[in-house]
Amino acid sequence: MLLQVLGTAAGGGLPQWNCACPGCSGARAHPERRRRHASLAVQAGEGTWYVVNATPDIGDQIEDGAGLRPGPGRRRTPVAGLVLTDAELDHTLGIARLREAERLEVVATAPVREALIDRLRLGAVLDPYTSVTWRELPRRGDGPLDGGTSAVRISALPVSGKRPRYAADAPDDDAWVVALRLYDTATGASAVYAPALAAWPERLRQAAAEADLVIVDGTFWDDEEPRRSGISDRTATGMGHLPIDGRGGTAELLAPLSARCLYTHLNNTNPLVDPAAPQHKRLADLGIEVACDGMVIEC
Ligand code: MLT
Ligand code: MN
Ligand code: ZN
Repeated sequence: MLLQVLGTAAGGGLPQWNCACPGCSGARAHPERRRRHASLAVQAGEGTWYVVNATPDIGDQIEDGAGLRPGPGRRRTPVAGLVLTDAELDHTLGIARLREAERLEVVATAPVREALIDRLRLGAVLDPYTSVTWRELPRRGDGPLDGGTSAVRISALPVSGKRPRYAADAPDDDAWVVALRLYDTATGASAVYAPALAAWPERLRQAAAEADLVIVDGTFWDDEEPRRSGISDRTATGMGHLPIDGRGGTAELLAPLSARCLYTHLNNTNPLVDPAAPQHKRLADLGIEVACDGMVIEC
């Protein structure tokens, strides 16, 4: 299975346009620290890719991705569709960015699809531009990534009922935020991708224990970080993101796994955005990595 990390930042990116915090200022001074919004491309078959989450950076992410540029036909694109882990704006604003598509397939759970159609009015807005097809992301069992013959199968593991703020009064559902399990029937390899993680439920625990690759939510280093940095009066957990460090943090969940483990969706307040931060050694000692934009991973 072939994967490409197209971005590794939380909402706002690094640097964020209106922020002069040390993380954002550091990224302006050292362009190699810049991170695009968290996204992953998954190869469904030769010359066919699905992009997980449509970020505000998606146009540049496709342009810079290996094998994602169009051609040889004038309007032939290897990007066959989008898979969404949630309905948050940092993961969905890029859908409208792709309106030049002849057709666009979006794979999502029912609450996510309904939020985009009923709240953001994406169906009605995009209708005059392109033909959007919605496909259900399977929560029970799995299905082929491309809805057809792909050897890569995909399934959703619900991880949170947290709704986006623009859909705060939308109905409860445990699949507002999901982790993805990708399973390659040709090689037996599997990967878990969870850029937003409010809990570590049993199905996710099992999938992670069997996986070869696990890429998870690294938004905040510790639970107090959002309050300490002044960006929120809630803790990381209260914002729907398990912190990396501390009791119940993701580092202690990932450390025992046999999979290659990486963090993504780093917020600009996370000390890990500074390559010199001592927290990098803490993770390295546990055998855990921080994902970089542009990483190509074969598993
Ligand atoms: C999140 O990851 O919690 C969301 O993207 C936050 C937001 O954009 O409001
Ligand atoms: Mn986010
Ligand atoms: Zn900042």
